[in-house]
Amino acid sequence: MKILKNSLLLLSVAVLSSCNVQKEKEAVSLKDSYKNDFYIGTALSADQIEEKNAKEDSLIVKQFNAITAENIMKSMYVHPEKDKYDFALTDKFIAYGKKNKMFIHGHTLIWHSQLAPWMQKIKDSTEMKAFMKEHITTIVSKYKGQVDSWDVVNEALNEDGTLRKSIFLDKLGEKYLVDAFKLAAAADPKVDLYYNDYNNEEPAKRAGNIALIKKIKAGGGKIDGVGIQAHWKLAYPSLEEIEKSILEYSALGIKVAFTELDISVLPNPKDFSGADVNQKFEGDPKMNPYPEKLPDSVQLKLAERYASIFKLFLKHKDKISRVTFWGVHDGQSWLNDWPIKGRTNYPLLFDKNLQPKKAYNSVIQLKETKQ
Ligand code: XIL
Repeated sequence: MKILKNSLLLLSVAVLSSCNVQKEKEAVSLKDSYKNDFYIGTALSADQIEEKNAKEDSLIVKQFNAITAENIMKSMYVHPEKDKYDFALTDKFIAYGKKNKMFIHGHTLIWHSQLAPWMQKIKDSTEMKAFMKEHITTIVSKYKGQVDSWDVVNEALNEDGTLRKSIFLDKLGEKYLVDAFKLAAAADPKVDLYYNDYNNEEPAKRAGNIALIKKIKAGGGKIDGVGIQAHWKLAYPSLEEIEKSILEYSALGIKVAFTELDISVLPNPKDFSGADVNQKFEGDPKMNPYPEKLPDSVQLKLAERYASIFKLFLKHKDKISRVTFWGVHDGQSWLNDWPIKGRTNYPLLFDKNLQPKKAYNSVIQLKETKQ
């Protein structure tokens, strides 16, 4: 009888403590684990800003302490006609961030992609100058003291580090860059101002980006940080190039943020590189190898890749202001439709059923073992 009682006792202790371990695991989150290191952000779709799915919403609020709007702050949505702004969703985005005490990042003021059609018809320098002044001043002033940082200019560079022949460069010459930063600072002198790009951890583009930041500073512009988008692959870019980038950019006296992190596990079309949203390729079943499920071996590779990247981020946490994922879960990722439509990609830490993946555990575990 006594033996039976003792073993029952032992059994209940074991059950209780495994429940506690389970509870502790559930209580853990990205934002809490990394709270002394840098913000952990996510991009939000319009539906997520509107809190349309309660399960997604509780995951967002639990895991992240910084937000970026995936699309709704881009010029084609927020400024669809010359004399018309549409702030309905951007107001909701700001309210969402405030309600949840999150760091709010504005994406993006000056970008050649996702431009409103009327902007593409701007004819000359006078009109372009007036557009830039009005657009930047209106938006930045409206959210003065509410948005914490802005991508002032997005993707102004070519892969070789020269300036992209955008409509802005075409109409105004390279001065548009320093002017954009000056206009943003005039509208909200306290907000952090960033230049944001993809592949700017690669040597040639990085050199161009460093030159650009120096030019903006020399011209009297205020620039507080550089955004490395970080649309990465399993084996590219190398940790060495990422580390050199963190060191070289922060040596300029600015913050480094990883602003759109995701890691594609799918094959790339030939001739494809970077993250130009206008690139499109034809579909082919070979290019969509995991339509139902990601094999365990690739799941593991993704977890290892994320662990090595976050290990590097932690090593340089004093230089890094924010790490933002480009989406909450795999089901919403833009990489399911870009650069090829209708694929199934697995680039984030949560799967399409909102469950944490091995990659999530590996990022959390880094904080549980002694650094
Ligand atoms: C992407 C969005 O995720 C997609 O929904 C949209 O169709 C195209 O743009 N670089 C950027 C982001 O700065 O704004 C892009 O976001 C991805 C590449």
